[in-house]
Amino acid sequence: MLHPVSDMSDLQAVVYVSTATQLMGVSRLESLLIESRDLNLESGVTGVLLYSDGVFMQYFEGTEAAVQVTYERIRGSRRHKGIVELLNEPVARRSFPDWQMGFAQPARSELLAMSTARWRHMVNEVRDPSATSQGLMLLHSFWKNARR
Ligand SMILES: Cc1cc2nc3c(=O)[nH]c(=O)nc-3n(C[C@H](O)[C@H](O)[C@H](O)COP(=O)(O)O)c2cc1C
Repeated sequence: MLHPVSDMSDLQAVVYVSTATQLMGVSRLESLLIESRDLNLESGVTGVLLYSDGVFMQYFEGTEAAVQVTYERIRGSRRHKGIVELLNEPVARRSFPDWQMGFAQPARSELLAMSTARWRHMVNEVRDPSATSQGLMLLHSFWKNARR
């Protein structure tokens, strides 16, 4: 999907981890993804959702306004609790432009590594469009090799 208009405005990215409030079997994961992708198609939000052993980690990006509305909706969901924000920053470009919401189930150790990585940029990197945080590098390399 193209985002000709939205990508001309300010882009924002959010990363968080949370705990599922119910056991997320295949059908519950599927309905969550279908819902989320429909909403993201409307709002131009892209990203990836990871799930392992009752823990969610999500990276999503879009216009500042779209990200704000989406984040409110996500925070309001009763399907998870204990949201810990790892990143909420402007970004120079999209990292997952082709994914309305990609999904993968990493090993617990992989998710742990990504969720404990440094996501925020150092002050001197914020304006550098080529700067990639440790967290984003780990997520990219996981995503490239993930079996989906
Ligand atoms: C782990 C998780 C990821 C979600 N991802 C998105 C998303 O990418 N885009 C979106 O618009 N809503 C997202 N949502 C919100 C759901 O699509 C849905 O609106 C919300 O779960 C409804 O609230 P409820 O779960 O209390 O019924 C997410 C919710 C959860 C729990």
